[in-house]
Amino acid sequence: MGDRTSPPNTGAVVSVRGSVVDIRFDGHLPPIYSVLRAGAERRIVIEVLAQPDARRVRGIALTPTQGLARGMKVEDTDGPLRAPVGKGILSRMFDVFGNVIDRGAALSDVQWRSVHRAPPLLARRSTKSEIFETGIKVIDVLVPLERGGKAGLFGGAGVGKTVLLTEMIHNMIGHHEGVSIFCGIGERCREGEELYRDMKEAGVLPNMVMIFGQMNEPPGSRFRVGHAALTMAEYFRDDEHRDVLLLIDNIFRFIQAGMEVSGLMGQMPSRLGYQPTMGTELSGLEERIANTDTGAITSIQAVYVPADDFTDPAAVHTFSHLSASIVLSRKRASEGLYPAIDPLQSSSKMATPGIVGERHYALAQEIRRTLAQYAELKDIIAMLGLEQLSPEDRNVVARARRLERFLTQPFFTTEQFTGLKGKLVSLKDALDGCERILRDEFKDYPESALYMIGSIDEAKAKFKPGQPAAPAAPAQKTEAKTDPKPAAESPVKAAAEPSPKPGKMSQAKVEHAADTHES
Ligand SMILES: Nc1ncnc2c1ncn2[C@@H]1O[C@H](COP(=O)(O)OP(=O)(O)OP(=O)(O)O)[C@@H](O)[C@H]1O
Ligand SMILES: [Mg+2]
Repeated sequence: MGDRTSPPNTGAVVSVRGSVVDIRFDGHLPPIYSVLRAGAERRIVIEVLAQPDARRVRGIALTPTQGLARGMKVEDTDGPLRAPVGKGILSRMFDVFGNVIDRGAALSDVQWRSVHRAPPLLARRSTKSEIFETGIKVIDVLVPLERGGKAGLFGGAGVGKTVLLTEMIHNMIGHHEGVSIFCGIGERCREGEELYRDMKEAGVLPNMVMIFGQMNEPPGSRFRVGHAALTMAEYFRDDEHRDVLLLIDNIFRFIQAGMEVSGLMGQMPSRLGYQPTMGTELSGLEERIANTDTGAITSIQAVYVPADDFTDPAAVHTFSHLSASIVLSRKRASEGLYPAIDPLQSSSKMATPGIVGERHYALAQEIRRTLAQYAELKDIIAMLGLEQLSPEDRNVVARARRLERFLTQPFFTTEQFTGLKGKLVSLKDALDGCERILRDEFKDYPESALYMIGSIDEAKAKFKPGQPAAPAAPAQKTEAKTDPKPAAESPVKAAAEPSPKPGKMSQAKVEHAADTHES
């Protein structure tokens, strides 16, 4: 990639420790962020991160270092890591180096740009406060997303971050006129491949770019893949003036890769073993996700929360960058209430009357209040039973449980294993449904009538008051009266915590729930 007219600047490997390589240059010392190449066919790529003395640079390998030996020749490419940009990258899939990995034709019509770029100046930034509808009830009603904002999907292992992100891609990409960029950081290769196939089938690939640095790749490559994705996003925003939807699964893996790099480079770890530079690294990336007057980058990021601990420094740092935080809870997942979003922990700065309108705001507040009251009453119910509550409180419980069920939704992406057809619900329908539940219009309906439906009219179709209830309904109702938690919860919960594959359990649960509720 460098200037090929003069002889290349070469050095020799002094030491190799895992991914960290020291190289001696007798001539000109390559600057920080230079990319060096070594090995057969110059296949090993090293990025310079430090210059320990006048003759040596220390770099981190972005590829496996297998075969690299002391004394081997290293070539300075005379430039930083670059990513391809241009119309030619649409509908393609890349790795961190900008190589196409979809077995398609070679790239044409592209330029190469450095992945290290500064965030736009404050004066160039703009903020519009517009809502980005997702078609997912609980998000649109309680945690509205911002067009041009950053939203995070927080959750521990296997609570449904990837499923929710994929569903959002499915719901939004079709209507989104701009470009979508999916960046996979440190997650499973299988998921990347599945997504590529799904997008191809859905016919949305022509406006999409995918870039992956998955979990099998060295830390250096996982650390840089986010920068490469942003470089592409910035091209569409700044050069083509288009809106960009940037999806990242998973931003925690970026922090984790930074931690590995920092450890390998011999820096002293900070709190909980994280790198001392975590805040700077994360903001270096997040601040580039910005809106200018010519185009906006809307981003949705999955954030893995280690051990479900929301006070983890990685989660806390990520929270501070986002305009909407969607928190997934293991408890809800174990109850089969998918999407397992905890409305009381999730928040959006768009949920103000000035932006969403008075009616929406008032409704959202009332829903939150009802759910919060129910959460407080849960302890009393567990100790004394539902009967001991005042009639008023009992009404709150009934409303809250119906709301909780109405805010579940069958997903298109989970059709195969839940057996339920996916539903897209407009904001208006979602608000209407919640309002009617809050006005007690459905208090004679069994809770199951509201579970996994789209708009509220489907509950009417499922069950008509006056007719005898569906066979599963009375059982469900008594269960609700005597035991506030579904019977199957405890074994699932017990298994969910230590098991590495809690998803399997919840999946069985949904199938089971679907069976009983369909009847
Ligand atoms: N909306 C949903 N409907 C039904 N099942 C779901 C839903 N969301 C998640 N699940 C179940 O949970 C499992 C795990 O979901 P997912 O892979 O999205 O978790 P994750 O949070 O991305 O996990 P990881 O941190 O391991 O990447 C799924 O395989 C599925 O069984
Ligand atoms: Mg995942």
